[in-house]
Amino acid sequence: MENNNNHPLSPFNLNDDSEILNTYRYVNGRRYHNVPGVDYFLPNDEEEVSRLDLQHKLVRYAWEGNFTAPMHKRLSEGNCRVLDVGCGSGAFIMDLAEDYPKNSYVGIDISDTFPGESVHVQWKEKVIPELLRVLKPGGWIELMEFDLIWFSLGPKTGQVTKIDQLQKRGISIIMSTRIAELLKESNVQNMQIISKSLPIGPWGGKLGELLYKSHIQVVTPVMERLVKSVKMTIEEYLEISTRETDEHKTYAMSHRIFGVKPQN
Ligand SMILES: C[S@@+](CC[C@H](N)C(=O)[O-])C[C@H]1O[C@@H](n2cnc3c(N)ncnc32)[C@H](O)[C@@H]1O
Repeated sequence: MENNNNHPLSPFNLNDDSEILNTYRYVNGRRYHNVPGVDYFLPNDEEEVSRLDLQHKLVRYAWEGNFTAPMHKRLSEGNCRVLDVGCGSGAFIMDLAEDYPKNSYVGIDISDTFPGESVHVQWKEKVIPELLRVLKPGGWIELMEFDLIWFSLGPKTGQVTKIDQLQKRGISIIMSTRIAELLKESNVQNMQIISKSLPIGPWGGKLGELLYKSHIQVVTPVMERLVKSVKMTIEEYLEISTRETDEHKTYAMSHRIFGVKPQN
């Protein structure tokens, strides 16, 4: 992976103080990207990098591997070029490079805090055609998505989950079916969508506990507001939601969608 020092957000290419101030946004002690028109709402600081590293390990464990498309043989033979879009902390692509060292790897992300190239990709409808444009004919594309909601929620935990607010901001709750449609429209071959439910909370053992913890880290910046709206303290919410996830066997859904770019 390369560092792009000429990118406007590169910390190595700052001309004056205002540029430093404009590079990131700080809200309640957390650091966020400051790219106009991008509605990605998670932080990009060290705390988030640690969370993404842990999430990567949990996903690899739950899915029993880094990918599901039948690419093992080609990756083992080498000379493949692998692109990870939205690579986050880079944990996934570095892991893959270790398992299959004979290929070249590039990770890109909007936040240049991560070890890849900093690039802004237009998500939603525009990103799929773009991914397919840069993919070699006969090459595999694989996308991994979590639904932004949990299933089988307890009553209190359900009240705190503000799905309608995400929808109001134009954020899709279940993106996997739309991704599959877009791949089909682009005539992607051998397309499959494989879904896995992941346990949330103590009933799911270590995996469930860590996935619960990872989620709590995601909502921590807005936690005070969330719990206030249902007249609970943060401590009460943590206690109640842990108990409810256990009683109701709460789970999250993750999906891997993959296929091959046609030869012509
Ligand atoms: C939930 S994280 C997942 C990171 C990584 N793929 C993983 O599984 O650990 C999503 C990543 O996508 C990046 N991202 C979000 N919107 C983006 C955009 N429009 N262009 C490029 N990267 C974007 C974020 O900065 C973040 O690192």
